Amino acid sequence: MNQIDASDAERTATSADAERTATSADAERIATASDAATPTSPETRGLTVWAEIDLAALEANVRTLRALAPASEFMAVVKADAYGHGLLPIARAALRGGATWLGAAQLPEAFALRDAGLTTRLLTWLSVPGSDFSGAIERDIDLSASAPWVIDEIASAAAALGRTARVHLKVDTGLGRGGAYGPDWTSLVQHASSVEAAGVITVVGIWTHFAHADSPEHPTVLAQQERFFEAVTEAEQAGLRPEVRHLANSAATLVHPSAHADIVRPGIAMYGLTPVPQVDDDFGLHPVMTLRARLALVKALPAGQGVSYGHAYVPDVDTVVGLVPAGYADGVPRNASNVGPLLVDGRRTTIAGRVCMDQFVVDLGPGSQARAGDVVTLFGGAPGEPSAQEWADATDTISYEIVTRLGARVPRVYVGEPGDRT
Ligand SMILES: Cc1ncc(COP(=O)(O)O)c(C=O)c1O
Repeated sequence: MNQIDASDAERTATSADAERTATSADAERIATASDAATPTSPETRGLTVWAEIDLAALEANVRTLRALAPASEFMAVVKADAYGHGLLPIARAALRGGATWLGAAQLPEAFALRDAGLTTRLLTWLSVPGSDFSGAIERDIDLSASAPWVIDEIASAAAALGRTARVHLKVDTGLGRGGAYGPDWTSLVQHASSVEAAGVITVVGIWTHFAHADSPEHPTVLAQQERFFEAVTEAEQAGLRPEVRHLANSAATLVHPSAHADIVRPGIAMYGLTPVPQVDDDFGLHPVMTLRARLALVKALPAGQGVSYGHAYVPDVDTVVGLVPAGYADGVPRNASNVGPLLVDGRRTTIAGRVCMDQFVVDLGPGSQARAGDVVTLFGGAPGEPSAQEWADATDTISYEIVTRLGARVPRVYVGEPGDRT
């Protein structure tokens, strides 16, 4: 059944729209690195859609970020399968680039890192009652606590193992999300201090997270910073002696040196994407992920023949279309229908019609010589390629979501590993 629903009332696009979407410069044939590098390696032969992950770029990004915060430790944030890039290869590349800590949201992510043999200091921060704190303590994972119950569960797991657990107390300095807020901070600090005295936990860190670090001028940035250092003082006055204080995500690492503290915790910037797209600076970072697909079919369609579900695109001239075997099951947003930018056949264009579960269509234009098997680049970092940020702009989201939403069935093809270099 066709997916005809309320959103089908969206206006129908035409080939003239697709042409207007590409700028006149884009309409020129673009000789790009991706043309030159059209992958023919055995790894990508026969793949419908894949993500090339440039580990050398990741390593270089870590070096670039480290140089911005040379006095701080570097926690590579590798949660959510390393923002869709692949947990273990990214964690290893980050360590090669100089990361000294790893950060993950969930315990299973942290367990996967340890079970793969990575021994670097590792913090994980999201838990619920009943979380496997024993498994974390056995694996020497640092744990975050935002409430007294977390401390109690960690303490009883540590006591049962005869170990001392390392805990980072999280203070909500104004994000209004995780962490202890206001008077709850005082209670958390006092509770932690008394449990620490029993010898089953050590409070090794105090930390917080920004609400508006992506708006460098936002007044809450400095206010949160001030509140953070007050919270640290309060903890010290309660007898705690944290070894590290940390609050800087990518944006703060890039634009707020005063927030670097003992550890910076960049995520998105490590993957080569800017957390502050409104700032006209790439900070010397290189996108790590390039998403490509191969045309599965090329065929002629007459003017007036609607394309894909709901006929949301109708060419107004006789044309040639290509079928791209990537859909929302692969992470291509459905609301990229008619707007998702592409580089195909050396030209910039946009998706034609509706994005389906496994595929979408591109209007290759009258007389196109494209053939099945030709490479389509959805986003990447080479000249002429659309960026993840352009996809984010086109679909009203952020680049974080564009890369992280990539489906599990999209193979990640790693390039730039140490063995690849001469
Ligand atoms: C607690 C924490 N620290 C650091 C980061 C990294 O943030 P970013 O990707 O903006 O650098 C995140 C990601 O959202 C996070 O949740």
